[in-house]
Amino acid sequence: MTNETMSVFSTELSARFDKLVAKYPVRRSALVPMLLYAQDEVGYLSDAVIADVADRIGITELDVRNVATYYSMLRFKPAGKYNVQVCTNISCMLRGGYEIFEKFQDELGIGHKGVSTDGVFSLEEVECIGACCWAPAIQVNYDFHDDLTPEQVPGILEQYRAKAAQGGKNA
Ligand code: FES
Repeated sequence: MTNETMSVFSTELSARFDKLVAKYPVRRSALVPMLLYAQDEVGYLSDAVIADVADRIGITELDVRNVATYYSMLRFKPAGKYNVQVCTNISCMLRGGYEIFEKFQDELGIGHKGVSTDGVFSLEEVECIGACCWAPAIQVNYDFHDDLTPEQVPGILEQYRAKAAQGGKNA
């Protein structure tokens, strides 16, 4: 594969990758940021994404997979349009994080790493998302919601359903 003719990435992201790999003394150091950008654009790390990234860095696809599987924020299957991450780490757990997670499971009819049948939502139980002072907290794509109660969950989902109906993606 050559980057110019077969890339799965947009022209903009390809240009970003070219800059990124040149920034580090060792090209491989760009791997994790590249995978995060790739996931943002494509939605998940498909076989084609992994092959393209491996080609750009000059390592094998197995090398890419070995690193990618270490990071829980990287996905190998498509997520929903809105990925709901519910923190159940200690601060959030003590303030009802599991109740929040259960409410999302009930409302969406899916469990950890599940995707709703309409493809609008995916759900994950995650470790600390850095909002401990406002626990319990969740993250939907790049948007934070904090100091939550289970009663607020349906309203949050409705907010994103409305965005999805309007064709929006970012929170
Ligand atoms: S423990 Fe939940 S945000 Fe830190």
